[in-house]
Amino acid sequence: EELHVKIPEPTKPFGPHSALSPLPRQRLDSAGNQMYKELFQESVGRASVTQARSLSGKNILSVAMFTMKEQLNDIYNLASIFKARVHKDRPCDDVLKGKVMASCFYEVSTRTCCSFAAAMQRLGGRVIYMDESSSSVKKGETLEDSIAVMSGYADVVVLRHPEVGAMARAADVCRKPVINAGDGIGEHPTQALLDVFTIREEIGTVNGLTITMVGDLKHGRTVHSLARLLTLYNVTINYVSPTALAMPEKVFNFVAQKGIQQNVYSTLEEVLPETDVLYMTRIQKERFESEEEYNATCGLYVVTPKLMTRAKNRMIVMHPLPRNNEIDKAFDNDKRAAYFRQAEYGMYVRMSLLAMVLGKN
Ligand code: CP
Repeated sequence: EELHVKIPEPTKPFGPHSALSPLPRQRLDSAGNQMYKELFQESVGRASVTQARSLSGKNILSVAMFTMKEQLNDIYNLASIFKARVHKDRPCDDVLKGKVMASCFYEVSTRTCCSFAAAMQRLGGRVIYMDESSSSVKKGETLEDSIAVMSGYADVVVLRHPEVGAMARAADVCRKPVINAGDGIGEHPTQALLDVFTIREEIGTVNGLTITMVGDLKHGRTVHSLARLLTLYNVTINYVSPTALAMPEKVFNFVAQKGIQQNVYSTLEEVLPETDVLYMTRIQKERFESEEEYNATCGLYVVTPKLMTRAKNRMIVMHPLPRNNEIDKAFDNDKRAAYFRQAEYGMYVRMSLLAMVLGKN
């Protein structure tokens, strides 16, 4: 198959005189031709939809920006092309040749940081790095100043930060697109995108599935973004957690407003047999006020080969990783264990996102 990704060019402004419009507005008005006007409006309407779907030059701060399934299909179609090319050892390093990505991680990461870097490098781009422990953040430099500087060096900024709200602050001063790589207990939009891609790749569809999210739903930014993103599909979502770590009301209400059925449970056993996607999460020790509070909630839900005899044969177990003890290593060789494949899918989705953000429509 041929790779049809345009080499990036600056985004053209959308308006009556942009390349997307067929004719200047003045000429239409003087012509006074109703049919002509309607054709013009239809064309502008189509262009608006295309523009709305395009990620070119846009920030990716929250899954809230994805309101049409078609937007996700665009991302996943390109991710599938990149996946096929990488698997066939066919290069795609002409796509972002000459482009630079700034990787700014104020909080530790293995997958997000490395898969973004791998994605950029596989597309022929380069990566510059900064983090809070080895940069002038140590000398008191603000997030705003660091990001303003990095945006002068790079074409796109990938940012992870422990504070909710940091992305909006960064985007305000950044002259290049900002991609949210996780903001505290807020969101992790690119993880949610790769999670849905994983479900599509592994099961073949998202619609009609029962997805069970387990563990620290209060602090888990991945499940916050995933639950929101799943509202674009016809799914049932189950939540399994101790009351103290329940899904935040804000997310629950958002999902409810979209008409998605949500069920709340305190044990995994009762919901496992009907589950198509079991989404395990780590209890996030670093977000607790005290060790006692953490100890009271960890170790409640553990996937083991024995427990999984109660689950469907055709289902998958996902985890954004890193894991602690919530999935027994003895389960790793089970074909339903999808978490390491999930991490790999992340690279293809991030290749797609970088190509789309830095490329033309
Ligand atoms: N899933 C995820 O965000 O992992 P990292 O914290 O290692 O990036």
